[in-house]
Amino acid sequence: MNETTNKPLSVYLETYGCQMNVADSEVVLSIMNGAGYRRTAELENADVVFVNTCAVRENAEERVYGRIGDFWHYKKDNPGVVIGVLGCMAERLRKNLLESESAVDIVVGPDEYRRLPELVENALAGEKGIAVRLSRVENYDDIIPLRTEGISAWLSVMRGCDKFCTFCVVPFTRGRERSRTLHSVIKEVEQLSAQGFKEVTLLGQNVNSYRDDAYDFADLLASVARVDRSMRVRFTTSHPQDMSDKLIETIAAHENLCKYIHLPVQSGSDRILQLMNRTYNTEHYLNLVEKIKRTIPGVSLSTDIISGFPTETDDDQKMTIELIKRVGYDGAFTFKYSPRENTKAWHMDDDVPDALKTTRLNEIIEVQREISWKKNQQEIGQTVEVLIEGPSKKSDEDFCGRTDTNKMVIFPKGGLKAGEYCTIKIARANSATLFGTVVAQETKEVVAYAS
Ligand code: 5AD
Ligand code: SF4
Repeated sequence: MNETTNKPLSVYLETYGCQMNVADSEVVLSIMNGAGYRRTAELENADVVFVNTCAVRENAEERVYGRIGDFWHYKKDNPGVVIGVLGCMAERLRKNLLESESAVDIVVGPDEYRRLPELVENALAGEKGIAVRLSRVENYDDIIPLRTEGISAWLSVMRGCDKFCTFCVVPFTRGRERSRTLHSVIKEVEQLSAQGFKEVTLLGQNVNSYRDDAYDFADLLASVARVDRSMRVRFTTSHPQDMSDKLIETIAAHENLCKYIHLPVQSGSDRILQLMNRTYNTEHYLNLVEKIKRTIPGVSLSTDIISGFPTETDDDQKMTIELIKRVGYDGAFTFKYSPRENTKAWHMDDDVPDALKTTRLNEIIEVQREISWKKNQQEIGQTVEVLIEGPSKKSDEDFCGRTDTNKMVIFPKGGLKAGEYCTIKIARANSATLFGTVVAQETKEVVAYAS
């Protein structure tokens, strides 16, 4: 509470990085809300400024540093304001962020958010603070995230990662794998359904290793799917080593489990995959893709690819391009390798010059763009079911929404509303988007969950 105005103190929060961070930010806001703080969307109104950060690549960190610089100016004009750095960068850089010149008052890692109110209170009294212990058990099971109303919700079901891919800092910033209970996830999905959410995405660094006693991720997905059949269920991210047949069959068996799988391959070269400690080879990966395509007709697949990992040659790059073509992804997220402290690859020579990393990255992007374009052309003349998300960014006359396979569709609004399902006939397409017109609106049967 502000003692002069008698108003609750306001928290302004910016989130960088993955969806996991978006979900964590909602947990942070819930904790702060419980301690009497209110959220503000304007920096100018903030008594407390949080930045939830990502440390996965160097450029993500550079953006955050830039932002901390802006907050430093804000704090110069408003000396009582508390600035907090949260998330993976807080865990990675720890005390370095608190050096005396810095605007930063508190540094809090991903497993210590329950301590935020106490740390903020101390900081308001002028005492800087740090909390960066990683936990083997913290999963915020009992905290209902403070979500803004909407169509689509993120829900984290497990935290941390035990995979130790040699390029990845996540096992060091988010610690060991731990899962929430199936019961608590189901309860939260029931609430989301009651609040009118139409889509939920289950999150974890490696959702395939979800476990609650005898229940695995396939059991969790099936249970979530049963809560509300009018709600779409998505999940990310899957590790190719841990994707079971049972999981693939479960996706095929439930209509509201979306036919879209993000399955990061990282490289098409077995030698590089081994250096990355990905624990599978391309043969395993391609067999898995075949099985997925056979079992889930019409499935769409996306991937992550790193270009320029240490020792990567032109031949390795060719193998990656070859694999992309063989799989025929619907989309790919592509990254230039950047060395991260603490990881095994940090000790390898980062020997692919930056310009070559860029050339390889651009080649991959171009090959994928062509594949996506061809795949989208095949949608022309088809009808697809779309969940309406809201107005299209480019035109007020149009809505945008997604197919079950995660393709963006733009169409004239008609008399429809966001959150409704409709059937769209596709008229044209580019490599990123489908365009069409409404042929029917749909009502979906709602089936209550019975355990
Ligand atoms: N350099 C480049 N890309 C990385 N990723 C993770 N660590 C690095 C790194 N050090 C990419 C991987 C991962 C995605 C989330 O980020 O492709 O799947
Ligand atoms: Fe990082 Fe590998 Fe874990 Fe993914 S599976 S979070 S890339 S260590």
